[in-house]
Amino acid sequence: MADAGAADLGTSAAADGALFRKLVAEGYDQCAEAYLRQHSQQASDDDLRQEPFRELMAELPAGAHVLDAGCGAGVPIAKAIVDDARQMRVTGVDISPRQIELAKQLVPSDRATFLCSDMASLVCEPESFDAICAFFSVFHLPRRDHAAFFARAASWLRPGGRFVFNLAAGEDGDGECDLSTDFLGATMVWSSYPRDHTVKLLGAAGLSVVKEELKMVTTGDEVDRSGLRFRFFHCRKE
Ligand SMILES: C[S@@+](CC[C@H](N)C(=O)[O-])C[C@H]1O[C@@H](n2cnc3c(N)ncnc32)[C@H](O)[C@@H]1O
Repeated sequence: MADAGAADLGTSAAADGALFRKLVAEGYDQCAEAYLRQHSQQASDDDLRQEPFRELMAELPAGAHVLDAGCGAGVPIAKAIVDDARQMRVTGVDISPRQIELAKQLVPSDRATFLCSDMASLVCEPESFDAICAFFSVFHLPRRDHAAFFARAASWLRPGGRFVFNLAAGEDGDGECDLSTDFLGATMVWSSYPRDHTVKLLGAAGLSVVKEELKMVTTGDEVDRSGLRFRFFHCRKE
């Protein structure tokens, strides 16, 4: 449980979007290698991203351009996109300079572009992507910014384009600022609205939810084995 100092930091981060983002960026700079070892190195069926990602890929045309928002070190997702036989392109964006450095090393392809930026303030051409995936990243934006991010994401998608992402689910995932002082050794913050409010925000952005799935982590490290749950949203731009 967070001590008083951590609780104060959480309260400050909830009120200050710049501090919130600084904690996230510095936290992932610090734990990028540990995260890579634990969660990103290999695709496996225990990996909650795999099924939603496979379903997304099945919808996409040859040569599709995918935005990977909060791409981390680029594996397994961005790498799988450029390795697909259909010659797809990926643009990965991440707020952590270290994650982007790793992504450039691990996914060296002329069909991959990696940018270090806050995905919520990224500037993209309207209707320039066939799909956007954001696995385990939207909940690192302060929740008051979720509506604006969904609206921007919708504007970047071609009509009929797909947006697949997840949030934490359940009591642990519904806070304005949930803070851990030991996320793979780093301080980290998360923020989400409950499911019904998120669905409203998506609808207001012009994104209809075509499928939702609640998934529970059952393997992995100690934290994972505690039964964390995540809700995956598959959306379509109208
Ligand atoms: C839990 S990791 C997930 C990485 C990757 N999507 C995956 O599934 O392996 C979350 C990533 O989102 C990035 N992130 C968090 N907030 C972000 C923001 N506002 N803009 C861009 N990236 C962000 C973090 O730096 C981190 O690399």
